[in-house]
Amino acid sequence: MSAADLSTDYLGLSLRSPLVASSSPLTGDLEGLRRLEDAGAGAVVLPSLFEEQIEAESLEVDRMLETGAETFAEAPSYFPEFEDYQTGPDRYLELVTRAKQALEIPVIASLNGTTPGGWVEHARLIEEAGADALELNLYLVAADPALDATTLEQRDRELVAQVRAAVSIPLAIKLSPYFTALGHFARGLVEEGVNGLVLFNRFYQPDIDLERLTVTPELTLSRPEELRLPLRWIAILREHVDVSLAATSGVHRPQDALKALLAGANVAMMASALLRQGPGHLRTVALAMAAWMQEHEYESVRQLCGSMSHRAVPDPLAFERAQYWRTLQAYTGHFQV
Ligand SMILES: Cc1cc2nc3c(=O)[nH]c(=O)nc-3n(C[C@H](O)[C@H](O)[C@H](O)COP(=O)(O)O)c2cc1C
Repeated sequence: MSAADLSTDYLGLSLRSPLVASSSPLTGDLEGLRRLEDAGAGAVVLPSLFEEQIEAESLEVDRMLETGAETFAEAPSYFPEFEDYQTGPDRYLELVTRAKQALEIPVIASLNGTTPGGWVEHARLIEEAGADALELNLYLVAADPALDATTLEQRDRELVAQVRAAVSIPLAIKLSPYFTALGHFARGLVEEGVNGLVLFNRFYQPDIDLERLTVTPELTLSRPEELRLPLRWIAILREHVDVSLAATSGVHRPQDALKALLAGANVAMMASALLRQGPGHLRTVALAMAAWMQEHEYESVRQLCGSMSHRAVPDPLAFERAQYWRTLQAYTGHFQV
């Protein structure tokens, strides 16, 4: 049997490998991006440009313009200087353009926001800068007791619709696992015209420093066990939505990526593993995946994709509630005191 074909389709793009480098500091500069491409990444997702960064910049420009207008009668002559002003969002667009020039593989840009507004205009600028696709990260801690799930989901849908209307490049939505009825919400996003779902965003949990008595925003890298959550939902959603699916959270080893694809993901994304082991880890993972596929007589990733999804396995309930009871029955460990 010839070598396994690792190519896959994601968001309508043809990728040479299902291993994608997800947003992280590694994808934030050209050197990291080139190393990821050299190590075999199928695509790269740039770090997110945040709604807050865009809004802060526009407030700052407004403030400078107002100060100028009060001080000098001929203030409009200042405008060209402001246009050249190097800001976070401008630098981001520059990164998109330079990444596109430097790389052969698709470059996916990322926006992170929660409320519809003027900042969404940046989706269009990102498209103009040359991104092959856009990932929108809906990162929200639903902390306001006055807002119910329907209201929050409706807001998310409106935001997605706004971004969808702003761009014609493929659009993926990066979701958190904390939706009350994820299947229903995912279907709603597909109705808004998105091309893919990225499951799941990792929430960075604050911690408490017992000595200083301060709240510390702790950022810990993931562990492979964390793949279980996206694995279940990818297996379930694969049968219900006809869009690309990406697994993110806990993809560290070849077996993690293979499981994600078997469940129904088109790509397996990696951040923590690459930050820990370096971009070269992609090569090791791809080689071991290809060897496993050959041994198990899979010719291609396309053949593998979804072959163990919710409906494809003999016991679909294994992905649902029934498994909980069975798992408790089967537990043989000892309680630790
Ligand atoms: C240091 C760091 C920075 C990250 N920055 C972003 C970001 O800007 N936008 C985003 O959508 N995800 C970001 N992520 C999340 C990752 O893209 C990924 O979804 C998450 O870490 C889970 O995948 P992993 O288990 O492979 O790390 C970041 C993760 C890390 C560790």
